[in-house]
Amino acid sequence: MKNQVLNKKIITLLVSAAFLFSTNTSTFAQTVKKRAATTTPQKGQIESVLKETYNKYKDLKEGKNADYIPELAKVPSDQFAIVIIGPDGQVYSQGDVDALYSIQSISKVLTLARAIEESGAQAVQDKIGVDPTGQRFNSALAVEQNKGKELNPLVNAGAIATTSMLKGNTYEEKWKNIIQTHNDFAGRQLEVNEPVYKSEAATNQHNQALASLMNSFERMYFDPQKSVDLYTKQCAININTKDLAMIAATLANGGTNPVTKKKVVSPQTVAHVLPVMATCGLYDDSGIWFYNVGLPAKSGVGGGIMAIVPGQYGIAAFSPRLDEAGNSIRAQRAIADIVSKLNLNPYLIQPNTAGAAKR
Ligand code: DON
Repeated sequence: MKNQVLNKKIITLLVSAAFLFSTNTSTFAQTVKKRAATTTPQKGQIESVLKETYNKYKDLKEGKNADYIPELAKVPSDQFAIVIIGPDGQVYSQGDVDALYSIQSISKVLTLARAIEESGAQAVQDKIGVDPTGQRFNSALAVEQNKGKELNPLVNAGAIATTSMLKGNTYEEKWKNIIQTHNDFAGRQLEVNEPVYKSEAATNQHNQALASLMNSFERMYFDPQKSVDLYTKQCAININTKDLAMIAATLANGGTNPVTKKKVVSPQTVAHVLPVMATCGLYDDSGIWFYNVGLPAKSGVGGGIMAIVPGQYGIAAFSPRLDEAGNSIRAQRAIADIVSKLNLNPYLIQPNTAGAAKR
């Protein structure tokens, strides 16, 4: 098992550093402004970095498709795509950008955003929790440990409970709410991948057990088995990598889709969603990811990963072969390289050395 205590410490340190910097003097604000003005990458630079990164990883075959959902094992493993969308909606892409795949856990970010929008940040904190568990994404131990409390909306138990608290009195009303949220983020009408949905519905006994366990601690807010089914269906929504980058770009743009201009959620909601992604987005490898890349991100066992450069870019990559934690190997490496080459890590600060104040 990964060193969860160390991971939690790293996350706490990074988050406190960000807080300290953000509350510091105007000197720091000026530095950031200056830095932003000089480091916003040019169009040609984004295109060449994208191409270079795609070529570097296109033949990498490490890892393997998820197979605990039988249908996911059948997805062609060599598919690979990278897309970046800028604040003006400009799309940069490489590879199999139109290939469709199931969104899986990335949908948890969208239902989290909707839950905060509908019920408020405090309600999500109280009813679900916003702490990294340090355990695998489908851990029952994490639920048992705190009697269903102090989870987060990005692990399975917390995500099923988040889906259960969404507005709608019936299964149908809740589903309409969920699919509309996904459509609005992506800026187009999405469909459910029926074979993936059926495949997971036939094999999701573990998630059903998680929901029952959550229910035993009174931490489910709708019928537990119907909630698992809604959650399973939302995970089976089909997207391509352009959709994924558009979802990321909508978050990067404070909750308004940069192309349709529809306000999907408020900037305040996004300000709560991104920190949960930063601390819990890549499951028990969230600390390692954030330590190295410095951006909020979310993965899905379908092979997609999205990362957000707040106020600037949505970055998405897709490749079905996963590592032990359930995160796409090529997608992680591609995004990490792009962030480094385009200088997009917000924690990489150019010190202000000009004009030291007289004492
Ligand atoms: O519930 C599940 O296990 C899947 N529908 C989603 C899991 C997932 O994507 C975890 N991702 N890294």
